[in-house]
Amino acid sequence: MLRDRLGLPGSKNACEQGECGSCAVLLDDELVCSCLVLAAQSEGRSVVTVEGLRNGDILHPVQQAFIDAGAVQCGFCTPGLIVAAVDLLRHQPDPSEDEIREALAGNLCRCTGYAKIIDAVKLAATAGGGST
Ligand code: FES
Ligand code: FES
Repeated sequence: MLRDRLGLPGSKNACEQGECGSCAVLLDDELVCSCLVLAAQSEGRSVVTVEGLRNGDILHPVQQAFIDAGAVQCGFCTPGLIVAAVDLLRHQPDPSEDEIREALAGNLCRCTGYAKIIDAVKLAATAGGGST
């Protein structure tokens, strides 16, 4: 629904089993794997995808931090990681590296390591990345 009907291709369709986090969105401000949520279940509820995080032409601090830290590689996992990072920073604005790794453990990056992704979340934390 998000990608094909609503024209929001940020959320990726990958494992379709809730295992990879590529499809992560905020449903009523709760982080969910959208592949496990029927469109009908979201009726009347707030759904925020990676597209909805920016403010007009201004990227969300977490989006900007991923660019600035060089954390966008092929980019397939990036939208889900960004949504998960926003969720983390909303609950823990100054997370430790262990807390970042734990929060992102459900998001798989298939093409490279996680070092720059962790750097991006740390950078976002300094820029108030918990806002939505
Ligand atoms: S596609 Fe939803 S968790 Fe992998
Ligand atoms: S940047 Fe390619 S899968 Fe993560």
